[in-house]
Amino acid sequence: MKIAVLPGDGIGTEIVAEAVRVLNVLDLPFEMEEAKVGGAAYEAHGHPLPDSTLNLAKASDAILFGAVGDWKYDTLDRPLRPEQAILGLRKHLGLFANFRPAICYEELVGASSLKPELIAGLDILIIRELTGDIYFGQPRGRRIATDGHFPGAEEAFDTMRYSRPEIERIAHVAFQAARKRSKKVTSVDKANVLETFQFWKDVVTEVHKAYPDVELEHMYVDNAAMQLVKAPKKFDVLFTGNMFGDILSDEASMLTGSIGMLPSASLNAKGQGLYEPSHGSAPDIAGKGVANPLATILSAAMMLRFSLQQPEAADRIESAVKSVLAAGYRTPDIWSEGTQKVGTREMGDAVVAA
Ligand code: NAI
Ligand code: MG
Repeated sequence: MKIAVLPGDGIGTEIVAEAVRVLNVLDLPFEMEEAKVGGAAYEAHGHPLPDSTLNLAKASDAILFGAVGDWKYDTLDRPLRPEQAILGLRKHLGLFANFRPAICYEELVGASSLKPELIAGLDILIIRELTGDIYFGQPRGRRIATDGHFPGAEEAFDTMRYSRPEIERIAHVAFQAARKRSKKVTSVDKANVLETFQFWKDVVTEVHKAYPDVELEHMYVDNAAMQLVKAPKKFDVLFTGNMFGDILSDEASMLTGSIGMLPSASLNAKGQGLYEPSHGSAPDIAGKGVANPLATILSAAMMLRFSLQQPEAADRIESAVKSVLAAGYRTPDIWSEGTQKVGTREMGDAVVAA
């Protein structure tokens, strides 16, 4: 089992180090190889996703990824910015299916900004299409407008697009995932305004015919944003496109107490996967040893389950996380009165010990 370890920038290096320590205590036959990615790779090799890193990722069974990005790279040309590394990995490896389980652990009910009764027992699965939509659509760029409200003015544009096979394959993923849960899919779109998402809705409705045992509900994205904070437990599988999924999953992370608690898996058609926390490189707290490593540790558990066929080892990690929370360990982002505030390393120590 070969794992490519790509810590990246900012808190990426701190949190991935803890996940690697947790993987090491499992005593399984892993081969882990580390490579630079993002700003770290730009500094060393002049490119955020060097061929050596991409080739390592391609040759591995799974990729454990931290985060990339820093404000100091904001002035670089877009192809050289750290964020292009994660977009490039998703594209080159065809990682179209993104899973983000938003679970509110009993111990963290008080850490959320929402009323306890709204989130206690919350367990939703967000499935986000990851290689299409306006994040990848061409053409894009800047130009002088020839029409619109201000002809002759400078303007910028991106393209939102989805093809039928792109929607079909992710819809199958969503319905199959729902079959293993409470059998309800909420497909989130903006069909009332966008043709791309009317097409999304039509294709999802067609694919659903093969899954009569699964309930399908359609919801507009603006309403979904509201329902997520009003009655989040009404969702089971929340299924959507790339941009809406990006935004709604950050919103959902706050239902779990902190973005530092939300893991993710991004899979391709071969079952190869990239596993990363849902958050970014958090430059505001990088280097301070206070980042919450649990989203990354839980991502490593998803890696064991989805790509490395080690479900028991995944269970061991998840129950270790539950037990450290039950024992009262909290990084600052999830700290509340009466619990013990710890740093990144101490949280990793506690999970390793558990
Ligand atoms: P962010 O997710 O890095 O941070 C948002 C807020 O959450 C910050 O206040 C941060 O301190 C906090 N936070 C994030 N992870 C945390 C953790 N594990 N423990 C405790 N607190 C945590 O998003 P932001 O600030 O918008 O972006 C920072 C950089 O990260 C940018 O360069 C952005 O492009 C990049 N980014 C990279 C991603 C990736 O590598 N997949 C995803 C999202 C953003
Ligand atoms: Mg995001």
